[in-house]
Amino acid sequence: MPYVIASRRIVNIADLRREAQRRLPRAVFDYIDGGADAEVTLRENCRAFEQVTFRPRCAVVTAHPDLRVRIIGTDLALPFLLAPVGSSRLFHPDGEAGAARAAGEAGTAYILSTLSGTRVDEVKAASSGPVWYQLYLVGGRDVAMAAIERARTAGCSALVVTIDTPVAGVRERDVRNGAKELSSGAPRTMLPYLPQFLARPRWLARFLLDGGLMNFPNIVLPETGPMPYADVAAALEQSAVCWDDLSWIRARWGGRLIVKGVHTGEDARRAIGEGADAIVVSNHGGRQLDGVAATLRTLPEVVAAVNGATEILLDGGVRRGSDIVKAICLGARAVLIGRSYAYGLGAYGAAGVARAIDILRTDVSRTLRLLGCASIAELNPSYVEAPAHWLSRAQPRSSQLSAT
Ligand SMILES: Cc1cc2nc3c(=O)[nH]c(=O)nc-3n(C[C@H](O)[C@H](O)[C@H](O)COP(=O)(O)O)c2cc1C
Repeated sequence: MPYVIASRRIVNIADLRREAQRRLPRAVFDYIDGGADAEVTLRENCRAFEQVTFRPRCAVVTAHPDLRVRIIGTDLALPFLLAPVGSSRLFHPDGEAGAARAAGEAGTAYILSTLSGTRVDEVKAASSGPVWYQLYLVGGRDVAMAAIERARTAGCSALVVTIDTPVAGVRERDVRNGAKELSSGAPRTMLPYLPQFLARPRWLARFLLDGGLMNFPNIVLPETGPMPYADVAAALEQSAVCWDDLSWIRARWGGRLIVKGVHTGEDARRAIGEGADAIVVSNHGGRQLDGVAATLRTLPEVVAAVNGATEILLDGGVRRGSDIVKAICLGARAVLIGRSYAYGLGAYGAAGVARAIDILRTDVSRTLRLLGCASIAELNPSYVEAPAHWLSRAQPRSSQLSAT
């Protein structure tokens, strides 16, 4: 039965986060919410948005701002899309298919993680919008090639290759909650960590009815079939994506290619050299290398280095529509949201994803009206002030940015 979400109760993304925390077992909530090590980058991603201020044009009426964007040749109704979030089906049985459906209904794209619990063709069939496939080389090149073919056959129009995961970051909350032990499938190893699930009986009932801990149906090993949950962490470590791999992927995938996990101007240029149609300035939501700069802070450097040669997307710390507007003012074409919709999925299934999208859409629209700007396309650096030291590496475009 679909949830009825009272809009007075769920006013913003923080409310969805609170509901997810209330409804999910600790291990599942912390898997979504946590970051690597001391979680410095996780916090900084959000804080950076607070350091950018607006410069509105007042006495300008823009009744119905135009929120449309065009990314890699695809028209989207909204300036944000749904980032790849692994294991989404653990949060709620609606999982990846439900999130993709909500994205499609809102006129935006969904990016399916390699580490998902639903087959790519099922996810594509569930959505009326674009579905892109995020690729890890888990299992090796042959396994990845088969996944690329399945994504192509399913109708995915872009491949998103994540380059920031040569080894899985340590999320200390996951260690404490027994994430590794819980995925072992061995009852005695799991036992000490099971009480947290008994404390969330509704989640547990839904999880068991959905078949319990699933394999990864998009990582199909030739001998044994879908990769079991317990094997994925070790497999990830043996499958780091290098620049060589990117050339290999480019040669085999004729469609649009997006490189996700760019932190510097140098890597942005390298990705363009490898044929990226777009890049995502991303630190994996602070889940990998702790201590890297907030993505919003890195954005001016990347914009300057790219100098218009490819499209730039950004993710990390986006919790409000005004965050989306700030990122676009500073040079992103659009933004990916991760936790913002994952909290919604965990709290209410697909209805929660739809609510997250709706909150952000309304926020973006109101922010544009308050800025006196008629469309996303008209946003530019003159609508914001960013700290001066963010711009020190951003030479070519720095004259366009007003610094505090
Ligand atoms: C629970 C979770 C799982 C994720 N799984 C993946 C993944 O499988 N592949 C990937 O490229 N990024 C993954 N990410 C990173 C997101 O795609 C995105 O970069 C990040 O969530 C953006 O930060 P935000 O959550 O603050 O919006 C994951 C993020 C979360 C929160």
